[in-house]
Amino acid sequence: MNPKLQTVLLAGTLVFATAASAVTIEIQSDQPGAKINPAMWGIFFEDINFGADGGLYAELVKNRGFEFPDPLMGWTKISPSLAKGDLSVRDDAPFNAANPHYLRLQSEGTAPFGVSNEGFRGLGLRQGEAYDFSAQVRGVVGSPALSLQLYGADGTLLDAVQLKGFSSGWKKVTATLHPKDTDANARLCVLVDGKGAVDIDMVSLFPQHTWKNRPGGLRADMVQMLADMKPGFLRFPGGCIVEGSVLERRYQWKNTIGPVEERKLLINRWNYEFLHRPTPDYFQSFGLGFFEYFQLCEDIGAQPLPILNCGMACQFNSGELCPLDQLGPYIQDALDLIEFANGPTNSTWGAKRAALGHPGPFNLKMLGVGNEQWGQQYIDRYARFATVLKEKHPEIQLVSAAGPSPDDERFKFAWPKLRELNADIVDEHCYAKPDWFLANTHRYDHYDRNGPKVFMGEYAAQSVAIVSTKNKNNLDCALAEAAYMTGLERNADVVCLASYAPLFSNAEAWQWTPDLIWVDSLHVYGTPNYYVQQLFARNRGDVVLPVKLSGIETSTAGVQNLYASATRDDQAGEIILKVVNPGAAAIETQINLEGIADIEPKVKATVLTSAGLNEGNSFHAPRNVAPVETDLNVDGPHLTHTFTQHSFTVLRIKTR
Ligand code: AHR
Repeated sequence: MNPKLQTVLLAGTLVFATAASAVTIEIQSDQPGAKINPAMWGIFFEDINFGADGGLYAELVKNRGFEFPDPLMGWTKISPSLAKGDLSVRDDAPFNAANPHYLRLQSEGTAPFGVSNEGFRGLGLRQGEAYDFSAQVRGVVGSPALSLQLYGADGTLLDAVQLKGFSSGWKKVTATLHPKDTDANARLCVLVDGKGAVDIDMVSLFPQHTWKNRPGGLRADMVQMLADMKPGFLRFPGGCIVEGSVLERRYQWKNTIGPVEERKLLINRWNYEFLHRPTPDYFQSFGLGFFEYFQLCEDIGAQPLPILNCGMACQFNSGELCPLDQLGPYIQDALDLIEFANGPTNSTWGAKRAALGHPGPFNLKMLGVGNEQWGQQYIDRYARFATVLKEKHPEIQLVSAAGPSPDDERFKFAWPKLRELNADIVDEHCYAKPDWFLANTHRYDHYDRNGPKVFMGEYAAQSVAIVSTKNKNNLDCALAEAAYMTGLERNADVVCLASYAPLFSNAEAWQWTPDLIWVDSLHVYGTPNYYVQQLFARNRGDVVLPVKLSGIETSTAGVQNLYASATRDDQAGEIILKVVNPGAAAIETQINLEGIADIEPKVKATVLTSAGLNEGNSFHAPRNVAPVETDLNVDGPHLTHTFTQHSFTVLRIKTR
């Protein structure tokens, strides 16, 4: 730990049972308020920033099916001086219709000739791990071998294997490779060895070590980060990706289940969204599809919250609409998804789920209708979905949209309409400067307690400005979010769900910053914002306890020098106090637990802080800003505690 930080933490651990301080935190432990939704703090996943392909989906080969518009993108012709041969992308007699292109490699046999793949902005291999190669191969002329070789970035051969004896029909071939070194920028070479020609398709390389070691599965280190958050729900698949820039390119869940080679590739809308961050190699293979999504939710104990297209393409793009009288197939997709998730195994879609290996239901309880839509066009479409879904599935809570801003005209238009329609849960989005979050912690204090509930479905403090490439995941933003979350928690009778967005970012291929978790081909780290989310989710509590703050300062802009919320964890018999001190001065407080006769003499304090507001984490210093736990010695339910400057603290106080 850096010495500066240690001093700061020590200042935070001074505890006295003495007379009152200027600031008092009174927890009304005897007046419990709202029950907190067990799913309250969750995750928003979208395939942005190479979040799925090149991220969570552990496939290492980019453009494995040669289906990108430039069919050799990601591939390089390898032609050592002696090698003579030819390569061509073809689509006659393909291996399957969904992915019609394949590569023909023809060699004159003078030396191995073929292609190499660069991976998703880095092909990461680890020494000591095994990698499964597979491909569809068809022998065309002669009987050459296929030589598979892994090379490190410096040209060192890491492992090689030869495959022989191909039939004249397509056949899946497999091999296992063991790289002798770790390399973040390795390459996979596929070479024809000997005179002749072969066709290849669906060229794949997967680590055997995936999450739960599922073949063709998810990156274990990335899922672990999600599991460590103990999320209440997992929203999927977005985000604008739900909508598509035009309807033809919308996300259609039915195209994402079944054999991966039959999942048709789609250009990712983030491929071309930002001219300042173009990613021409960004496509959706749907290897992480809806079955894998439900399975992931189950694995990490998160409730599924799928968001479906409601007949509207992204209103920031074409805003294309499906006419109201043609919404039938869209609504049917929603009904079928519910059946896929929950239906009995003798139902059409329940049977498909069972055939994929999950006869039991996935317990879907919530469904989003549209992502970030707005205007009457949305209300009309939501109403049609709601009429059918509520009649057939009253047990499913519907999430509706309030547009992209937390307070503009679109937002103000949506709320009364959705209230009129008796919407269950309204999804609010907010990307704003840290000060907005600090000044809006009382936003929900005055919301109608009898109307729809709120899903704070996308939010993140932006250190510079929304979609600025200079935005940083720093402590400043993390503390602003933590302060705002105390406001969400205090209002858990209105706010039932909340998730930060976006979730993942590949450091070599991102379009949007800030993001909760950053990865490269081998590493992953959580930002200070990640630790805020984790601390809230892991210290949720069952019921809200009212907190009265006195003696704090509030600026004319509504920014306080201290924020707090409290909950009670019934099973642990603990009061959980969360306090954010965003300012530059430590604040001594008197904490009074009203209605509590006695507490255990040790209080667990978890503190997130650092030497300054601009501090963040990186691949080199992944825990520069990370929670630190200490035990505080206390003497009864009236204590003083100093909250260090620039800090977020969680105190767990065990009552007697
Ligand atoms: O989180 C990034 C994007 O922000 C989402 O795709 C969209 O819903 C919002 O505009």
